[in-house]
Formats: sequence, C-alpha cells, structure tokens
Amino acid sequence: ARIEKGGYKHFMAKEIAEQPVVLADALRHYVPGERLNLPETLDFSSLDRLTLVACGTAFYACQIAKYWFETLAALPCEVDIASEFRYREPPLPQRSFAIFVSQSGETADTLAALRYCRGRVARVISVVNVETSTMARESDLALPIMAGPEVGVASTKAFTCQLAVLFLMALKAGLDRGTIDQDRLRQLLDSLNRLPGLMNQAIGSESEIARIAESVAEAQDVLFLGRGAMFPLAMEGALKLKEISYIHAEGYASGELKHGPIALIDKTVPVIVLAPRDRLFDKTVSNMQEVMARHGKVVLITDREGENAAADGTWRSLVMPEVAPELAPILYAVPAQLLAYHAAVAKGTDVDQPRNLAKSVTVE
Ligand code: G6P
Repeated sequence: ARIEKGGYKHFMAKEIAEQPVVLADALRHYVPGERLNLPETLDFSSLDRLTLVACGTAFYACQIAKYWFETLAALPCEVDIASEFRYREPPLPQRSFAIFVSQSGETADTLAALRYCRGRVARVISVVNVETSTMARESDLALPIMAGPEVGVASTKAFTCQLAVLFLMALKAGLDRGTIDQDRLRQLLDSLNRLPGLMNQAIGSESEIARIAESVAEAQDVLFLGRGAMFPLAMEGALKLKEISYIHAEGYASGELKHGPIALIDKTVPVIVLAPRDRLFDKTVSNMQEVMARHGKVVLITDREGENAAADGTWRSLVMPEVAPELAPILYAVPAQLLAYHAAVAKGTDVDQPRNLAKSVTVE
C-alpha cells in the first residue's frame, strides 16, 4: 500500500507525531501485562561483554543503550560505528553477543560488520524495523522495533522505537544477571508504559518549539549539550539539525565543553542544553552558566522549571513533563526532532529528501 502523508506537510512531521502510537504498539507486543516478552534464547547471564554496532541515528541509539546495559545490568558494552568496526579487526570474546541496530536492515557497513561477527560471538542479534531485511535474515535472532514504515530520510520514530527495544533488552539483561529484582522491574516497566502519554504532552509543546526553532534557524553554528545518556542524545539532536536544516551543529558532553568547544561560544551561538533534573543536573547548570558568561544563547530543555533559578539568564527555555531519569533520552528525542524539523521548515529546505543523503545506504 502506498504510504500517505495523512494531512501533514512532510513525512517527517507525520512520523514525529506517530511516535506515541507506535511506541505504545511496540510496548503492547513486548510487555503484555507486566511480563517481559523477549525470547528465552536472549539470555545475558553468562556474558562477558556486548558489542553494539550501527550507523547514523541508530549508532546514537546504541550509545544511549550502553548506559542502560552498564548501569542496569552491569554488562560491559562496546559501541562502534559500522564503517570503522570491521577494518579495526576487533577481537571479540566468545562469551558475548553482537547487536546490530538498523532501521532498514540493509545498510552496507552494518551488514558487513554483522557478517564479520558471525562465528566469533555466541549470538548475532539484529534490532530492525524491516523484518524481512537481510540483517534480520542473517542474524541468530531479529527483534523488530515495530515503528511502521519510515519515509523521511531523517530517522525519528525508528530511533525512539529502537531505544524502547534496547531498553527492554537491558531490563532482561538486568534480570538475567541479578542486578534488577521484580520490584525494580515493575517500577521501570510502569515508567515505560507512561512514556507514550508523556511523548504526547511533549508534542503538545510543538508551537512553542517552532518559535524557538525559528530563532535557532538564523544561526550558523549550534551546540547541543548533555550528560550521561543525554550526551548521545545531544549528538543525535545535532545530527538531526545538520541533516535537514544544513546548519552546522555538534553534540558534546556538557563536561567536555571546557576542553575545546567553549572557544566557539559568542553571542551568535545557540547552545541547546538537554537537562532533565537527574543527579547530574547541578553540574549541567554550572556548565550552562559558563556558556552564558560568554554570551552564548542558552536554550534550556528541562522539567519542573521554576522550582529553582536554573533558567535565570537563559535565552529560551522549554519545559518537558517529568520522566524517570532512565527514560529521559527517549522523551527528549521529541523536542530535539521538532527543533530540527521547524528550523528546516523556517529555512525552506527539503525536509524529507535532504540534499546528498539517502534513506538507506547500501554501498560502502
Ligand atoms: C542513512 C540515513 C540515516 C540513518 C542511517 C542508518 O544515513 O540517512 O537517517 O540513521 O542511514 O540507517 P539504518 O537503516 O541502518 O538505520
């Protein structure tokens, strides 16, 4: 069947808006009742390591998942870009799984990395949107993300569904390895089940985000900052913005700012700070103040604004609903996507078919 835009101006807008629904569908499949519905063969208990490999947006999903596998399951994780992985000829422990994340399941570099791992690790697993794809066929186990067809070149709903599946895998790993008990599992699944509703609320701020995006669209360079699992999301936010608006953007770990990028800050540079109120929030605020002291234009995206003076002196701020800290990268993906989308619309670029990019890259 032909996929239509269904009243939206662009596929990307439609796919951003679909996220609460497709995420809820995926959760119904993987979490029927309060049970975790993942194959028994996906047993993480005796592993020494995980290797996650992907390209582009899927690579940032892997980087976020690394925080989850390490903190929730105490499982060491290595993450690499597919085009680098294979030529490095990395030694792989037999007692490890290799996980390949790909919307299309056809990206040439990721597929080559998957083939490199076959026979070298205990199990080759793919996390894909297209269940009939080459990667799904060549894996020992393929987990569908159930995002539905994604047409916009810039990945949106596939990213958040990849994250949801990877999060559930990390929960399974935590159970298998005894680092998560049933109470904690129930708590985290509860938070996960609330996520589609919170995403809807985030989408409700779209007109506010569009106004911020119009001012951001005038910039030449934009920085995105985040700490912990919000650091890879900062890189994904920067990727989204550069892909479709052609504005130069970089994502940095907030704490790394002082080791270089702070030299770029002046009154023309918007700095998007992705900072839910977690245990690292105060540190992020002090990084943000360093930016403001150099007249950088801070856009603070956080929750519970107004409870302290964190937003004082920022250029713009945006309030997200409160979310379990573990799941903040999934929720905050929404404002990052909308920001990029509306900056591109303000610049009049071809949102769904950005220049020089392809939806699926099947050459090296
Ligand atoms: C292309 C797309 C990106 C995507 C990447 C990986 O570069 O433009 O949006 O993230 O490929 O694609 P995959 O299908 O492997 O997730």
